[in-house]
Amino acid sequence: MRAACDAVVVGIGTILRDDPQLTVRMVPGASPLRVVLDSALRVPMKAKVLSADAATLVITSDRSDPAKRENLKAVGVGVHVVPTTARGLDIPAVLAQLRDAGVESVLIEGGAKVVTSVLAAALVDRIVVGTAPKIMGNGTNAIGDLGVGRVTEAIRLINRTVQVTDDDVLMAWDVDNSHFRSKAADDRQLVGAGEER
Ligand SMILES: NC(=O)c1ccc[n+]([C@@H]2O[C@H](COP(=O)([O-])OP(=O)(O)OC[C@H]3O[C@@H](n4cnc5c(N)ncnc54)[C@H](OP(=O)(O)O)[C@@H]3O)[C@@H](O)[C@H]2O)c1
Repeated sequence: MRAACDAVVVGIGTILRDDPQLTVRMVPGASPLRVVLDSALRVPMKAKVLSADAATLVITSDRSDPAKRENLKAVGVGVHVVPTTARGLDIPAVLAQLRDAGVESVLIEGGAKVVTSVLAAALVDRIVVGTAPKIMGNGTNAIGDLGVGRVTEAIRLINRTVQVTDDDVLMAWDVDNSHFRSKAADDRQLVGAGEER
């Protein structure tokens, strides 16, 4: 999936927890632009995502340290500042920034907070869920609060496809945002009015 996309996006929580490379290694293909959402520039300078294996862009806010921005640029990492909302960096501004950079397809790889933000903004076209044959008990949530209290308010998924691998099952759907968009617009008005949900 990385090889099929122009950019792969993760939150700084995933970088700090897993230190992923976010490159294409197991199949032929070019690595996508690696994008980290990091409003305070907590990314460690030794993080694998900053390696020279592929291009990296860190998107941050005006509250990040200008000296750290310069340090990142000095090692060839792109740094862009966008506005923030109650959920973090403004997702429409992030996507507009990527489009300006020539990116046409984006894989949001996680983690839960970033996945929740893009779903809440009604800006997801397709969702892919992989099920591995392991049981973790409570585990970690894949998606956080979307302000949905009733099944009728849920984001609807359509056009299901299923792919069975040796051990895993992959399910994918298109996201029908038509019903949820008004809620996302309400969210933006709340954020615009400075209210926290
Ligand atoms: N199974 C998988 O495929 C998979 C994939 C990826 C991650 N994960 C797991 O997910 C976990 C990490 O998830 P997480 O939810 O803690 O962190 P995350 O979503 O990776 O990153 C969240 C952080 O990103 C920053 N951020 C900036 N703008 C944001 C926005 N608009 N919305 C949300 N966050 C924004 C915030 O930090 P600042 O305020 O400092 O900017 C926020 O705390 C790890 O345990 C990892 O293993 C699993």
